Amino acid sequence: MESELAILAAVLAVILLIAIPTLVFGVAPVPTSTKVLRVMLDVLPDDFEGTILELGSGWGTLAFALARRFPRCPVLAFEISPLPWLFSCARQLLAPAPNLSIRRSIFQRAPLMEARLVVCYLNTRAMTNLKPRFEAELQPGCLVLSNTFAVAGWQPVSVLIADDLFSTRIYLYRVSVPLVEEPDETPPPHEESPDDPHTPHAAWGGCYRRNGEIAQRTSDARLTAA
Ligand SMILES: C[S@@+](CC[C@H](N)C(=O)[O-])C[C@H]1O[C@@H](n2cnc3c(N)ncnc32)[C@H](O)[C@@H]1O
Repeated sequence: MESELAILAAVLAVILLIAIPTLVFGVAPVPTSTKVLRVMLDVLPDDFEGTILELGSGWGTLAFALARRFPRCPVLAFEISPLPWLFSCARQLLAPAPNLSIRRSIFQRAPLMEARLVVCYLNTRAMTNLKPRFEAELQPGCLVLSNTFAVAGWQPVSVLIADDLFSTRIYLYRVSVPLVEEPDETPPPHEESPDDPHTPHAAWGGCYRRNGEIAQRTSDARLTAA
């Protein structure tokens, strides 16, 4: 009976440790799926250099994959939920990625100005809240890669659709720098104005790839690091 109670208490503690930060911060620690992860890694240029920030790194799925894909780039991962953070620290102990640092902190403290790539899998509200900081602090040429959730009003360099159950969209933006790849077919007619909240901040790349095409065309979608 005592051991059953202990197990019950442990399960309850785990549930609470996950549920409370989820309720407070509004994003559950759902990891990026393997198929989506592959698309996210594939779209990045092989010659990418610079600091990578992951905003809300969960169990470390993306953070470790990014650190291994770019072993010369510092990867700073921010995670507030204690259990996913502890899990990723345990991963660091068991199979270290030397260029990865996982901080138990809100990502609002992330040094966006240092980033050459920002990666997120959050929600619409979090992206909306991040947008003014992105616009104020991200340096020209910085890439923003987001699983599922777009930055409203920004024009992506690429929108990829993963070949998974949900046809998950992956948005890639490059901050305020003309595209390296295919020219835009349908640029939105727009008078740019710094006061206009609808002014696209990131350049428009106009490439849009669907399921079957992704495998063949992800390599075309790679950009040259600025
Ligand atoms: C959907 S999960 C994604 C995890 C990981 N990026 C991935 O793709 O596998 C989002 C994570 O962001 C974390 N999060 C949400 N708001 C946060 C905040 N303000 N600061 C730090 N982490 C936050 C959540 O705890 C959750 O683990």
